[in-house]
Amino acid sequence: MYWNNDISLEDKSIQEELRSYENLPKHIAIIMDGNGRWAKNKNIPRLFGHREGIESVKEIVRTSSDTGIKYLTLYAFSLENWKRPMDEVNGLMKLLDSFMKQEIEELHRNKVRINLIGKISSLPKYVQDTLHFATQKTKENEGLTLTLALSYGARWDITRAVQLIAMDVRRGNLSPEDISEETFASYLNTNGMPDPDLMIRTSGEYRLSNFLLWELAYGEIYISDKLWPKFRKQDLYNALFDFLKRERRFGKTSDQINNSDSYFKKVVNAIKNS
Ligand code: FPP
Repeated sequence: MYWNNDISLEDKSIQEELRSYENLPKHIAIIMDGNGRWAKNKNIPRLFGHREGIESVKEIVRTSSDTGIKYLTLYAFSLENWKRPMDEVNGLMKLLDSFMKQEIEELHRNKVRINLIGKISSLPKYVQDTLHFATQKTKENEGLTLTLALSYGARWDITRAVQLIAMDVRRGNLSPEDISEETFASYLNTNGMPDPDLMIRTSGEYRLSNFLLWELAYGEIYISDKLWPKFRKQDLYNALFDFLKRERRFGKTSDQINNSDSYFKKVVNAIKNS
């Protein structure tokens, strides 16, 4: 089902093709970078860049949902972003609040589930209230899970997980020998979500910027030169087709991946004959 059914035939056919690939990413994470530079290039205040960035957010959410992506995580505000000028921080909070108020009905109609990661308690109360309403309203939805990383930092999340684990050990609810990678991951904000298969960063920067450091261990990285306000559906298609060409080996060899069955037989025979 397409949003509002108003989609061009060309987009429909691209999205149908993408949907047909089994190895399409389940989870895409995006560092939306370049709003400030987009505004600077036009000699207008930085906030106009964030405002235009919201147009990209809308298009990318909709296109991801139409293409059958199950999880989309957007790095909307980092813990480090609190250090920006107060006007910009306040403006971003207002934009986030009005985005959610304006879009919630359409997101809900299209079965999007809103999810949050980050230090949400540090956001202004009015933003927390709007976000709380949105997550509650959409919590049963089974379409795209749209996660907003807000006041988020991966090191903060990892440190917090370590503290929670230590407390559980002290209370006798967990023994140190039982701490596996899975146990650790269950203490992170991203608990219950699959790791991102694909991380997109815009504006040509090659950095992780404290985003999902644990979860991106095996994620494929795609850097777009476009500034975020210019990153639209065609750019998402390009990233997805690029991803589909990649070979994800997870530490194995290319032969193992391409021919796992015959590789296994070869290993068994080699052991038998040794
Ligand atoms: C990075 O660009 C972008 C941000 C810090 C904020 C991203 C926020 C939005 C796109 C709008 C609100 C989001 C949602 C989900 C409604 P930058 O300002 O660092 O750009 P620069 O590196 O060119 O200065």
